[in-house]
Amino acid sequence: MSLLIQEVPAIDAPMDLLLLADPSQDKVRSYLSSSKCFVASIGEIVVGACVVQPYGTDAHELMAIAVHPAHQKSGYGTVLLKWVVDFFRKSGARQLEVGTGTFGYQLAFYQRQGFRVTSIDHDFFVKNYPEPIFEDGIQLFDMLRLTLRY
Ligand SMILES: CC(C)(COP(=O)(O)OP(=O)(O)OC[C@H]1O[C@@H](n2cnc3c(N)ncnc32)[C@H](O)[C@@H]1OP(=O)(O)O)[C@@H](O)C(=O)NCCC(=O)NCCS
Repeated sequence: MSLLIQEVPAIDAPMDLLLLADPSQDKVRSYLSSSKCFVASIGEIVVGACVVQPYGTDAHELMAIAVHPAHQKSGYGTVLLKWVVDFFRKSGARQLEVGTGTFGYQLAFYQRQGFRVTSIDHDFFVKNYPEPIFEDGIQLFDMLRLTLRY
């Protein structure tokens, strides 16, 4: 069965999946209502989700992207990211941004699709989250901002 990607209203956003990408439910709720939410499903099962918020006139920020752990490393995240990049290209966007940690496989995941590092937000993860965030046993401090210019 093939992957179906479609936009859903914020109320139907799969919070459990989005929390894999952004551990603060308050933060996710704060940007959901002003963003577009896309879900990827196989039949009735939602396997992935992505939230994109507009800023300025023709720029957008990918706020969260996640694939259910049982379905990761099967190519779905790449298909969803490519689909979203293409969706905003067709809408006439000038650029798509994303913020991510300074290490880990996510960096290659974005750069494979043409995202380039444009700045570093020092201490972003300690200033913006109440609890320390760890990945692969390493605490996340700084956020890299990556930009895809169309
Ligand atoms: C990032 C994410 C959306 C990618 O989705 P996915 O469906 O697993 O991605 P793909 O199967 O298309 O794989 C893309 C690459 O990431 C790698 N990858 C995916 N999950 C991985 C993991 N847990 N550990 C190491 N590498 C991983 C894949 O091996 C693949 O690399 P390769 O082509 O060299 O083999 C998904 O792993 C996820 O939900 N992660 C948790 C949430 C998150 O970190 N979101 C991004 C926040 S910045």
